Amino acid sequence: MDWGMKNRMSRLIRPETGRAVWLAIDHGYFLGPLSKLEDPGKTVKPLLAYTDAIMLTRGVLRNCISADLKVPIILRVSGGNSIVGPALSDEGIQTCMEEAIRLNASAVAFSIYVGTKHEHNTLMALGELVNEGQRYGIPVLAVTAVGKELEKRDARYLALSCRIAAELGAQAVKTYYCEDFKEVVKGCPVPLVIAGGPKLKTKLDALHLAYDAISEGAAGLDMGRNIWQSDNAVGMIKAIKRIVHDNASIKEAAKLLKI
Ligand code: 5RP
Repeated sequence: MDWGMKNRMSRLIRPETGRAVWLAIDHGYFLGPLSKLEDPGKTVKPLLAYTDAIMLTRGVLRNCISADLKVPIILRVSGGNSIVGPALSDEGIQTCMEEAIRLNASAVAFSIYVGTKHEHNTLMALGELVNEGQRYGIPVLAVTAVGKELEKRDARYLALSCRIAAELGAQAVKTYYCEDFKEVVKGCPVPLVIAGGPKLKTKLDALHLAYDAISEGAAGLDMGRNIWQSDNAVGMIKAIKRIVHDNASIKEAAKLLKI
């Protein structure tokens, strides 16, 4: 890895722990203004002090986030689809690398849809993005998207998607936690972070998810709804951070939430 690429990676994944807690607020690019993210700037303001990076689109960054932001940016650069459109997997590069550099992004994020009719296009676009990223020293985070098919989140499918993303050159991969997650980790030679997915029934469930993923080899979490849709969003991100960076137990993390 070249110096610039290494430097950006070290801003995203703490060298002292090899781990990361990222806050994802990019959902609107295909889901619109979902609950608690109607005003993203207001939602994230109290959380910025506790995250290692923030994942979002250029539109939200420019319009809702102050330019004195100290937190590294993971810029969502894929799009072109919507939850009500004909094919959620029909996603391409929507924001160019020059724009990512202009916005001082530390990484760009792109979704791949393995096993769908748009598999080929999304994988070719990932390759293109990696080529551009290599040229400018910008890491690419590949997101193994499943769209509406949440049942696809099993170890066999996710191991396949994560490995393909790494083989095509992504510097990090974002996926889902699943049963036998260790198999997914084992087959992926780059750091894996997990999404939280839709809001879980309880805060304790979200802590379990974080703890299990970290214990089984995830480098961290890129979590959204289970943090900012929580009735104690600051408490949630602090508790998650304790698990990820301080190896806290679920019980210790739960104490921060008074649950
Ligand atoms: C959407 C994404 C989201 O950033 C990701 O799903 C993380 O958020 P959540 O924890 O709410 O699932 O990549 O495609």
